[in-house]
Amino acid sequence: MINENQNRSSANTSQDFVLFGALGNLSLKKLLPAMYQLELSGLLDKSLVMHCVVRDGVSASELSSKITKFIKPRLPKGTFNEGVWSNFIDRIKCINVDLEDPSQYKKLTKALHNNNSVVTYYFALPPRLFEVVCDNLYSAGIIYKSSKIVIEKPIGRDYESSQKINDKLADYFEEERIYRIDHYLGKETVQNLIALRFANSILSNLWNSKNIEYVEITATETIGIEDRWGYYDGVGQMRDMLQSHLLQLLCLVAMEPPNHLNSLNVRYEKEQVLKALEPITDNIIRAQYVDGEVSGKSVPGYLNEEGGSAQSDTETYICMRAEISNWRWSGTPFYLRTGKRLANKVTEIVIHFKPDQHFIFDKDQKGLSGNSLIIRLQPTEGISIDILTKDQGIEKGMRLRKDPLNLDFVESQKVSRIPDAYEKLILEMLNSEQRLFVSRNEVELAWKWCDQAIQISNHTSQQLHHYSAGSNGPDIAKEMIQKYGHRWHEDR
Ligand code: BG6
Repeated sequence: MINENQNRSSANTSQDFVLFGALGNLSLKKLLPAMYQLELSGLLDKSLVMHCVVRDGVSASELSSKITKFIKPRLPKGTFNEGVWSNFIDRIKCINVDLEDPSQYKKLTKALHNNNSVVTYYFALPPRLFEVVCDNLYSAGIIYKSSKIVIEKPIGRDYESSQKINDKLADYFEEERIYRIDHYLGKETVQNLIALRFANSILSNLWNSKNIEYVEITATETIGIEDRWGYYDGVGQMRDMLQSHLLQLLCLVAMEPPNHLNSLNVRYEKEQVLKALEPITDNIIRAQYVDGEVSGKSVPGYLNEEGGSAQSDTETYICMRAEISNWRWSGTPFYLRTGKRLANKVTEIVIHFKPDQHFIFDKDQKGLSGNSLIIRLQPTEGISIDILTKDQGIEKGMRLRKDPLNLDFVESQKVSRIPDAYEKLILEMLNSEQRLFVSRNEVELAWKWCDQAIQISNHTSQQLHHYSAGSNGPDIAKEMIQKYGHRWHEDR
């Protein structure tokens, strides 16, 4: 049973933040640096204690020295402060627990603030440990009604397994206390999509299939799978990136205006988009990178990556044409693509507006018509609109040219840095705000749609294509979009 004694709200109570997997990649690269930035900004409650759960044999001093050695040199320029760092390190308590041994959870019970805290369990753990750790926390009697749990994607590898994980979480935590992270939702520019869409009438009035020809959502990376073969090979780009990050972006681009900007309304609208996604029947391309060059350096193909095996048909690139069957979007395709080891790191959304029906300029310039709105999420955050103007010069007559009208968020808002997504997400979670987290329904609807797409793409007639590392991906992705008279943004 859930421990009913501590049904407290977060106001006026202390905070216990229990970090499982505290010395793992995610914690060192993202979570702990984000906590430090919150400390630096004075946003962490004075009472908050960070219980870093590590395996046996790591002492408290080893833990803090590992954290310091790893994080300090990697902090963004100008953000290290000796005094703040030492306060931050003081918050950290080292707890050695063998996660699969229920008897060891007593150490955690002892360490938590007594009867007077909101406890957050952050699972920076492989999904296979979710169940056992939940069971063991429960047996130790330290899941309270007010406890929160934070878990990372991937939540399962298909609809069925995600349901199993969600069922397990629901046994112990109420949905309002489950924080499922999709870190894209914490990115400033992703949140900005909402401002852009719903605070600008020149855009909101045009945001539908009557005015929009097609939408591109792209997330390309230059990195390969790093040292993650063990995780990645059973997963692939569809499950690793498309099922979560790209579908979340699609939802934010396509959803109806929520009545209010709260989690209930925003999640409801995103769910409606996922429900309206047409099953994929065709137009899905899977590909894998082979040896090539990225930024002038030779890099191995996927099968030659460290830890790799000579045979695997896991895709490292996926591209598809999705359709949303609803009043707003029927007839406007959404092209989604994401891949590893490509020429550039780019995350962007491009909205291609329809040209005017009647073109009064020289016919040979018709191809120029139609504006595009480019929303850049990475690596430089901003937006630009391709605008047609007259080419300057009396000899040019009424020749047209297309130029970008550019807004760079860092420059225009004079900010020294854009906070990392995890800073925002952890802060929201500590404040019990769920709008930037993914609901159970969203996860399961996304899996249902992806399961069907995966089934189609695994069909024997759908071969696995190849592309050189450092390229723009397989040529067939160009052919797919050109078939419909459309072009990728970089080819225009
Ligand atoms: C993660 C994926 O969720 O997102 C990684 O598991 C991927 O494979 C990463 O590299 C990309 O995140 P970002 O913020 O760099 O675009």
